[in-house]
Formats: sequence, structure tokens, C-alpha cells
Amino acid sequence: MVAAPSEETMAEIRLPAERKYDAELAALARTDRGARPPGWALSPRAVETYVMGGDAPVDGVTITPKYIGDRALVQVAIATLASDRALMLAGEPGTAKSWLSEHLSAAISGTSALVVQGTAGTSEEHIKYGWNYAMLLAEGPSERALVTSPVLRAMREGKCARVEEITRTSSEIQDALISILSEKQVAIPELGQVVSAQRGFNLIATANTRDRGVNEMSAALKRRFNFVTVPVVEDLEQEVAIVTRREAELRADYQVGAAPPADLARMLVTVFQELRAGLTKDGKTKVKTPAAVLSTAEAISVLFQSGILAQSFGGGSVTAAEVTRSLVGAIAKENADDVKVLREYVETVAKGRPGPWKELHAATKAHVRG
Ligand SMILES: Nc1ncnc2c1ncn2[C@@H]1O[C@H](COP(=O)(O)OP(=O)(O)OP(=O)(O)O)[C@@H](O)[C@H]1O
Ligand SMILES: [Mg+2]
Repeated sequence: MVAAPSEETMAEIRLPAERKYDAELAALARTDRGARPPGWALSPRAVETYVMGGDAPVDGVTITPKYIGDRALVQVAIATLASDRALMLAGEPGTAKSWLSEHLSAAISGTSALVVQGTAGTSEEHIKYGWNYAMLLAEGPSERALVTSPVLRAMREGKCARVEEITRTSSEIQDALISILSEKQVAIPELGQVVSAQRGFNLIATANTRDRGVNEMSAALKRRFNFVTVPVVEDLEQEVAIVTRREAELRADYQVGAAPPADLARMLVTVFQELRAGLTKDGKTKVKTPAAVLSTAEAISVLFQSGILAQSFGGGSVTAAEVTRSLVGAIAKENADDVKVLREYVETVAKGRPGPWKELHAATKAHVRG
């Protein structure tokens, strides 16, 4: 008989930022002496510290870095949110756009939950309001029958709303957002009501530059945003730091997997950077670039999966064999030919390198067909 999960073993996989880091946010709020823009839970400086991490503990609480990268970029993003303009985080896949959007809204508004996922099917109800039809039929239009969207709630409560993957939404939705962003109002004619945004309301959108063109954003909508481009990390040490930190956090959240040795993590990130750039780090050897997106996010998940493979089916500790097996899955996403690109890379680059690279070469020969 399989026992039902007890209360103790029941736990949410992933807490929203404002709950996971509630101690950090509370400590920052207690000690924050800076001026807070109207409707904000923290001052811009404290939001920055929350996102980038602190040098020293704040009121006994260590402020961990969330986004690892350019501080100036984060400052511009925060300043934008205090202005009349909305914030657009644009960039390649897996560069932490959604991650940054979640943490910014958690720090500024105390919630990251007011989010709309942009898809081709996103309708006006998702950004304005809809109705509970049973109640609408029973008692006519009323506040109780109204189903508010996350954006409308953010306007009423003076908080940050988030629109993910905005470029995937139809032009009608983009037009509706233009009117919300310029007028900061939504009319609900059925109730004879106009909702005016409270101070503190703003919008954070994310857009994947690889998806552009699906629904090219109108110039009118672009004008309502400040664009902040979230870059792909090119520095090896920095990307290794991001990947190892986030992999360790995932391992703690999911409570599964073995810790990968540092030299394997480093090798994996090097492989990603060299394949992405089409050039080895020493600038000497050109390599083919696969069609698959080799983002930082992808590197994190390859490393995490290697740990699970090692723990579940391997000898317990992560070796190049597990890394290779997960790497192939990440690379073969777009087309099977990419596996050939990996093989070629391993033959020309990995073979001559010491340590785990030799194992990578051997494991690729053993595990990778094509
Ligand atoms: N510079 C970074 N600092 C901290 N974490 C990062 C960084 N780059 C990537 N990550 C991690 O990568 C993961 C994926 O990031 P996220 O989902 O935000 O990417 P994205 O840019 O929204 O991608 P997509 O365009 O595919 O939606 C997150 O776990 C995030 O922590
Ligand atoms: Mg995203």
C-alpha cells in the first residue's frame, strides 16, 4: 500500500519570491531609510540591494544575490518603474528576464503574483476583466460577478503587474495595453465605473528577442516602455557562478540530485560559451554553432539533471558521463544534426584538453550516436 503524503511531506515545489525571501524583504523594510516612491514597499536603493545582494547582513539577515550581472541595468529597471513608463525586459531566451521581473515586483509591491502569461490566446479578459457568467445571469452585472484580471487588480491596489512574453500576444491585446498604459484607467461600462490606477501601479513586460516578428510590437506600444536589454553572459567566471548557485538552489528546492564537482560545472559552462560563440575561449579554434539555444537557464538545467541521473542511476557522484547525457538532450532540441555539431566539437576541442575534458570525449563517443 502506498501511504498518502502526510502534511510534513507536502510542500510547494516553488515558492514565489516574496515568500521564499520574506525574511530578506522584511529586514530591508525594517532598516530602509530611503524615500519610497508612492505605493512602493521599499526605496529604490533597498530594491537594488534585494536584487543584487548585500555586502553585509541587514538586521542580521544576509541578502542573497538574485540577479547576477550588471548593476547599472538593474538600477535603470528600478528607476523606470518609479516613472510613468513601463519596463520592458528584452533579450535572448534564458537570460533571467522573468526571474528579474518576479524579484522586482516582489520587492517593489510585495507580490509577484499579478502576472499574465502572453500567448496567442491571451484575450482582453486577461488584461482587463471578465464575468462569472452564472452570477451575471443570476444578479446582473455587479462587483461580485466581476472577474478582475491581474492587471486590473494591480491598478486598483497600486502594484506592479507583469506581462510575460508580450510579443506573443495579438495586436488587439497590445492595443488594449497601450490605452491602459497611457490613460492609467480602465472603464467598466457595465458597472458605470472607471478604475483609475493607484500610485505604485506599473507594468513589467518581458519579451524574447528570438520570438520577435511573431507579432511585431507596434511603435505606439514601444513608446510606452523603457527597454532594458538583459544580456547573454559572456564572462566565464560569471556564468559559472550563476549556474552553480542556481543549480544548488534547485537541488535544495527539489531535494534531489548530487552536487556536481566544480570542474565539471566549469567545463559545462565552457562548452556552452564556446558553442554559442562558435569559437574556443582562447580564440584559436572555430567551432560550429548548434541551432538550439544554449542559454544560461539551459546550462543550469543540464547540470541539475546530471545530478539527478548520478544520484538515481549512477554511482552517486556526478561524472562527465551524466553531464554528457543531459547535454545531448539540451542540444538535440532543435534538430538532430546538432548532435553532430557536439560530436565534432568534442573531437576537435575536448580531446586535447586535460581532466574532465578527456572524460567528456570518452562519454560522447560512448553515448552519442549520430
Ligand atoms: N544573470 C543571472 N542571474 C541569476 N540567475 C540567472 C541569470 N541568468 C539566468 N539565470 C537563471 O536562469 C533561469 C531562467 O531564467 P528566466 O526564466 O528568467 O529566463 P528568461 O529570460 O525569462 O527566458 P525565456 O525568454 O525563455 O522566458 C532562472 O532560474 C534564473 O535564475
Ligand atoms: Mg521568461
